[in-house]
Amino acid sequence: MTSDRRRFLRFLAASPLAARAWAQGPVIPITHPKDALDVMDFEPLAHKALPPAHWGYMATGVDDDKTLRMNREAFDHYQLRARRLVDVTHADLKTEVFGATWDTPIYVSAVGSQKAFHPEGEVATARAAKAKKTMQMLSTVTSVAVEEVAKALGTAPWYQMYMPTTWDDTEKMVKRAEAAGCPVLAWTIDLLAGRNTETATRFALADQRDCLTCHTTSPKAGGNTQRNQGRPMFAGLSGDMNPPGATWSYVERLKKMTTMKLLLKGIDTAEDAKLAREYGADGVIVSNHGGRATETGRGTIDILPEVVDAVGPQFPVFVDGGFRRGSDVYKALAIGARGVGIGRAYIYGLSAFGQEGVERVLDIFHAELSLTMRQCGTPSIAQIGRASVLRNGTRL
Ligand SMILES: Cc1cc2nc3c(=O)[nH]c(=O)nc-3n(C[C@H](O)[C@H](O)[C@H](O)COP(=O)(O)O)c2cc1C
Repeated sequence: MTSDRRRFLRFLAASPLAARAWAQGPVIPITHPKDALDVMDFEPLAHKALPPAHWGYMATGVDDDKTLRMNREAFDHYQLRARRLVDVTHADLKTEVFGATWDTPIYVSAVGSQKAFHPEGEVATARAAKAKKTMQMLSTVTSVAVEEVAKALGTAPWYQMYMPTTWDDTEKMVKRAEAAGCPVLAWTIDLLAGRNTETATRFALADQRDCLTCHTTSPKAGGNTQRNQGRPMFAGLSGDMNPPGATWSYVERLKKMTTMKLLLKGIDTAEDAKLAREYGADGVIVSNHGGRATETGRGTIDILPEVVDAVGPQFPVFVDGGFRRGSDVYKALAIGARGVGIGRAYIYGLSAFGQEGVERVLDIFHAELSLTMRQCGTPSIAQIGRASVLRNGTRL
């Protein structure tokens, strides 16, 4: 074998794109969102479109990124049980959430700083969500104010809150979201101890640009160094957030402060799901922040059964983490999730093609979920249940 050929084979072995070509057919050229066959087709395009530091901010998990990978791998623990000879002419994705009818159980979850991915940022996401009748959850560290996003979305989004460190600032933030019309407040409680986003730091260090031309602190320094002064939802506030001393009593106090429904985002155990209900939350989101909070955790789909079983079917349980296929969403619905959040999947689309990219990602998810529902003989959401899924070959 010539050394050139050997080098070429070594290159192929190391390339994830080539690995995909070997297993699943050739990589297709994508020049328009419509060319994408699945949502992962947008990932290499996003990588190409973004500067290294911004790509790293999205791609990172924490430490060795094991929880991040586990979110994907855990879906392989579940298999579908398809029933036959049901009329599957049409699928109906409609579902009820807090008295509202959603056209789809899939929502776009909170992702901060979306102008790092596309100049239109959260407004492009809102327009796509509106076009595809999808709920948008807006991050506290959004690059566009909630009032402007609500206009683009045609209704107020759910508001994700990183709690400011004083109650005074918390009340101001909560009242602002309430005044904008947000029906739901999702308090994210999985970053109160901080985190080590090492992959993000490595990409930031490889980025030749000076981060301080746009940021007040450099992501090259590692850790959670970003400050929030200048971010629209921190106008008039100190900018400090995620009080590490927060305890369950905070849930009660927060609940009393607002007329919005209160969700806790970042629940990873049955015990905490029960406490959330006890302290007055209206529901929980099973989430590990897309593998960006605690390392060597479980995939969220593996956490979902114990949480649903702990709180019962009346208490709304949502989930996010690693969802890339309609069949992933189907598994969560079968276990008992009321809604399923997507994060990176739509950000790939946003990074590559802006609004149109997000729209295509949502179309693909909806088409895949409809197909799975029809294939499994459960063409409405209400028909999907524990009998629709197995864990490692065993009934749940
Ligand atoms: C780049 C990025 C930024 C995020 N920003 C926030 C945020 O501001 N607030 C929050 O609660 N969750 C945030 N998340 C977590 C998502 O809401 C969601 O839990 C996670 O992305 C789901 O996993 P997935 O990316 O595999 O779909 C972020 C995730 C990513 C990838």
